[in-house]
Amino acid sequence: MCNRHSEQQKKCIKVIIRKMPLRRLMLITICVVFITTEAVSDENVKKAVGDEVSFRPTNIDPPVSSITWKHKNSSGFVVKAIEWDADDYVFSTPNQRFKGITALDEKTGQITLTYLTVKHSGLYTIDINSKEMQQRFSLEVMERVPKPVIKIKKVKGNPDVVHLICEYSEPIIWRNSSGEILIGSLHHPKGEFITVEFTGNPDNFYTCTLGNGVSTETSDPVYERDLIQDLWGFVIVSVSMVFIMLFLFIPPCHDYCADCCRRRKTSQK
Ligand SMILES: *[C@@H]1O[C@H](CO)[C@@H](O)[C@H](O)[C@H]1NC(C)=O
Ligand SMILES: *[C@@H]1O[C@H](CO)[C@@H](O)[C@H](O)[C@H]1NC(C)=O
Repeated sequence: MCNRHSEQQKKCIKVIIRKMPLRRLMLITICVVFITTEAVSDENVKKAVGDEVSFRPTNIDPPVSSITWKHKNSSGFVVKAIEWDADDYVFSTPNQRFKGITALDEKTGQITLTYLTVKHSGLYTIDINSKEMQQRFSLEVMERVPKPVIKIKKVKGNPDVVHLICEYSEPIIWRNSSGEILIGSLHHPKGEFITVEFTGNPDNFYTCTLGNGVSTETSDPVYERDLIQDLWGFVIVSVSMVFIMLFLFIPPCHDYCADCCRRRKTSQK
């Protein structure tokens, strides 16, 4: 944040020097004033639903008679998150969204929110002695990524290869058992797949990890052994089916034929 600021300010100075050489000195002075008043750095924080966050003003000058933290959501609605008054030493959270999850340290001005929801996203500002401070605290609360489940798809005409599919919109990282990152291919309509060739080692495995910057989840590993078992399972099921068919259809057929022979014999007589 600090870096970005000073970058911007440097750029600002450069632009002014280039574009308005005549008023250079005056404008540089304004810029310098701007830099000194902006010395407190703003904060941008990303969190996952259920997380906790704390914001603390860089400095507060005593004596402090009241503190109010305000929250502005992306539609511009402003509500009081928490208030403290030195006279009666009462903390209050008038808004339902902040009840039971908001704490304030009246000495440092630090606000702490627990059990964050997406609705806590927005801009937080602090009033000390009814005067709004310069510093801005921006919070983005994002949903946690789900724990992914890998789908297995056989490849037609190639029994030594399968596709492993991770069908999610979040960024995906594939890994094999040596921890190596594998490059996936785009899967339609969403997610990625990798093509896995049997190596003959049943302990080799593959995982898919989802991450959205605030939370990550990794799938259960899919072992080569499971993929082969899958194949064997298919063979076993097929063979059983054939046997079931034989047991179901041969006896009636046998009976039918015996019946047939008997009838033919009697008609011959
Ligand atoms: C902002 O807050 C208002 C009042 O609670 C609410 O009606 C509105 O939907 C909120 N906007 C967002 C984007 O959450
Ligand atoms: C993991 O992938 C890398 C790169 O493709 C490969 O060199 C390595 O042998 C793989 N390890 C296993 C256990 O499959």
